[in-house]
Amino acid sequence: MAKDFKNFNRAKTQNYGVGLVAVFILLSLTYITMSRTNTMRISVATSQLSSVPNMNRSITSGDHSNGPQKDSLEGGILKPEKKPICDFSNRKSDFCEAEGDVRIIGKDTRMVYVSSSHDQFGHDGGGDSWTLKPYARKVAAASGAGVREVTLKLVNGYHGEDSLRCTVNYTVPAVVFAIGGWTGNFFHDFADVLAPLFQNAYPFNGEVQFLVANMIPSFINKYQPILKKLSRYEIIEYDKDDAIRCFKRVILGLRLSTAEDFQMNPSNSPHGYSMLDLASFVKSVYSLERLRPSRITAGAGGGVEPVKKPRLMLITRARTRRFMNAKEIVQMAEELGFEVVVSEANPDVAKFARIVNSCDVLMGVHGSALTNMVFLPTNGVVIQVVPWGNLDWIAEHYFKEPARQMKVNYIEYSINEEETTLSEMYPRDHAVFKDPKSLHRQGWNTYARIFLREQNVRLDLRRFRPFLERALQILREIN
Ligand SMILES: *[C@@H]1O[C@H](CO)[C@@H](O)[C@H](O)[C@H]1NC(C)=O
Ligand SMILES: *[C@@H]1O[C@H](CO)[C@@H](O)[C@H](O)[C@H]1NC(C)=O
Repeated sequence: MAKDFKNFNRAKTQNYGVGLVAVFILLSLTYITMSRTNTMRISVATSQLSSVPNMNRSITSGDHSNGPQKDSLEGGILKPEKKPICDFSNRKSDFCEAEGDVRIIGKDTRMVYVSSSHDQFGHDGGGDSWTLKPYARKVAAASGAGVREVTLKLVNGYHGEDSLRCTVNYTVPAVVFAIGGWTGNFFHDFADVLAPLFQNAYPFNGEVQFLVANMIPSFINKYQPILKKLSRYEIIEYDKDDAIRCFKRVILGLRLSTAEDFQMNPSNSPHGYSMLDLASFVKSVYSLERLRPSRITAGAGGGVEPVKKPRLMLITRARTRRFMNAKEIVQMAEELGFEVVVSEANPDVAKFARIVNSCDVLMGVHGSALTNMVFLPTNGVVIQVVPWGNLDWIAEHYFKEPARQMKVNYIEYSINEEETTLSEMYPRDHAVFKDPKSLHRQGWNTYARIFLREQNVRLDLRRFRPFLERALQILREIN
């Protein structure tokens, strides 16, 4: 019970953070419902977990010879088959893994695990079944709303039924996942799909077939280089046709090593993957050459070495949370010795990744463009400007901690009442200034409207200057 309560609280905390970006409406009620469903499912999953094999071994080995058939008979005693293993305990993502005879009936988003031994799963040929949404953000109703559920069911033997006849047999394993949800936002593209996919698929060294539900072609196009590196096979949009695709091994949904956004927990990951591994991977995908910041010289023209200015990218946003005095910020940064690149993030990932990688410092107001920190040289610096309104939680959760895990230096600058344009809209004795938390409590709509959408930022340059100097200092020290 205590544990359930803790989960519930966490889900509630999550409430403040979950949506920073656009698209969804979140009511705490939804959370409570989801959290309860979740808790219920945990107890269902526990009995399955007791039979979890060493995932590490099972993922690394390309050898499936020790599948169910072989396990069934040992010393003349019929032993239980290796049933699918499902885990619903992660707050963000459910997954099942099945080895044996797995048939995917795409248009029904249904999978069948055919048992070869008799009387294991009941006389009706049926048995346990699991239903999940293979999207790594099940927790928020809105994020999963457009994602189709997939049911994995055990059946007792194949007796030649047309409804289960394999159209295609595959020798490589399958990873089944959905794209829907909140993809389309750069942060969620990474946090909900690409990072989880990396953790699950990278070990296969390309020898894995992706099956995608809720296909969004623009997503596939946008991240083609990353997806191609993870799987050498054409992605199958499996929920669109009548084919029955048969695999010896299927991973349904994406297994996470933590429930935190855009983070990994190497000690809980079958392969010990970290965010640093993810960052190295994407840098290699886009052939980014700067793995660490360039050596900089202390004073212009002073030394023997040619002057190499540190480069700072200032991310400007077009509509919300804009810098009102970007020009002055650039000027000051240049005075301090930076070469400044001003940019709105660009949808051409390969191109933008190269520009980010050419920089040593990435600076921006809290928002999805800071996700570009994956392209920064390791040991580079991220400066997150946190808008007014008690946004520490989302600031920390979405970017500070991920930066730390990627070994990118992190500087946080929280603006004060003078630096937000909210001061032009609300009197100083308004709750916006006196008690921002009370507005959080009014729910996501109010909170997001005021603090994420109505607000622009005018940095107090005198106050901000030491933070830029700190960034310079860091770059000098690491070189
Ligand atoms: C997982 O595999 C890696 C290498 O493939 C190994 O170094 C590590 O110790 C293994 N972890 C466990 C828990 O078996
Ligand atoms: C797929 O494999 C099964 C079992 O080995 C076989 O009976 C079936 O004919 C195969 N189907 C195709 C289309 O190759």
